Amino acid sequence: MNLPKRVRLVEVGPRDGLQNEAKPVPVDVKVELIDRLTAAGHTTVEAGSFVSPKWVPQMASTDEVMTRIKRKPGVSYPVLVPNKLGMNGAIESKCEEVAVFTAASEAFCKANTNCTIDESFERFAPVIEAAQRHNIRVRGYVSVVAGCPYSGDVDPKIVADVSERLFRMGCYEVSLGDSIGVGTPAKCVAMIDAVAQRMPREKIAAHFHDTYGQSLANILAVMERGITVFDTAVGGLGGCPYAKGASGNVGTEDVLYLLNGLGIEHGVDLDAIAATGRFICEALGRQPASKVAQALKAKLAA
Ligand code: HMG
Ligand code: MG
Repeated sequence: MNLPKRVRLVEVGPRDGLQNEAKPVPVDVKVELIDRLTAAGHTTVEAGSFVSPKWVPQMASTDEVMTRIKRKPGVSYPVLVPNKLGMNGAIESKCEEVAVFTAASEAFCKANTNCTIDESFERFAPVIEAAQRHNIRVRGYVSVVAGCPYSGDVDPKIVADVSERLFRMGCYEVSLGDSIGVGTPAKCVAMIDAVAQRMPREKIAAHFHDTYGQSLANILAVMERGITVFDTAVGGLGGCPYAKGASGNVGTEDVLYLLNGLGIEHGVDLDAIAATGRFICEALGRQPASKVAQALKAKLAA
């Protein structure tokens, strides 16, 4: 296998993991979650989003969360922003990194952000402009890169077009989201190869949801094709409110176990992440979706 020596993980549990929770998660819990993820060794912890509270009520407390977390030097705490209003919130909260998000299908873009793909880029223009003025890093997301819940198959060429636009606009990295977890290794490799023809491969991140249980296979496959940044969520939490039926992100515990087995460096402590997964799953009153989290929990109880 042709695998990298080291990868970088982007922990999206506090944002992607919690955004779909129906019951409000107390700010205390969110803050403890983020602080524990930092202490476990993550260098990027996506902390929330400045989106419309009518669309995603769970993220309404992001401003309070950002003021209360212990920001560790060298660790990034990005927040999602869909437009200038969200960017204003991020600036007020002294965020050093934001993420803009669009999609590879018109139907998903409309359902998620009430606009066309072109209109989403129009909204990003003032975000990028403000980011440059305030020295804020911008990451880009493309959703439904392997299939759309509304319009079905997605052409890798569209994923490549949208990714290139994000990159050229100033995103330092573009994360490719299989929002509904339908991708399989060959499909994901083909899609990523198409994107890599249009922007540097090392600036591409992979964001897999585990709906069909393909995430780890997909990660291994695209890692062999030179991808070294992976979005994961502690406990395998998550889902997008506008991708009905989509389950959680690939579990951070699962990815760490895979990487440890392959001897690939990542800088994150699996036991600390597993304990954090138990903490947040208890707070939410559910079992972790991550298989490794379940196995480690059973081992502890034995
Ligand atoms: P809209 O209704 O078209 O926007 O929503 P609008 O400009 O007409 O504004 C409507 C109301 O929202 C107004 O308030 C605005 O002030 C307010 P009102 O006058 O009705 O009281 N508003 C805002 N409030 C707070 N923060 C803002 C903001 N903007 C407007 N930033 C909008 C457009 C984009 C705002 C809306 O559709 C939205 O918030 N969507 C967010 C959806 C979302 O967060 N989805 C999940 C994240 S993406 C994801 O999970 C995928 C990813 O994980 C990758 C993958 O897996 O694929 C990243
Ligand atoms: Mg997602």
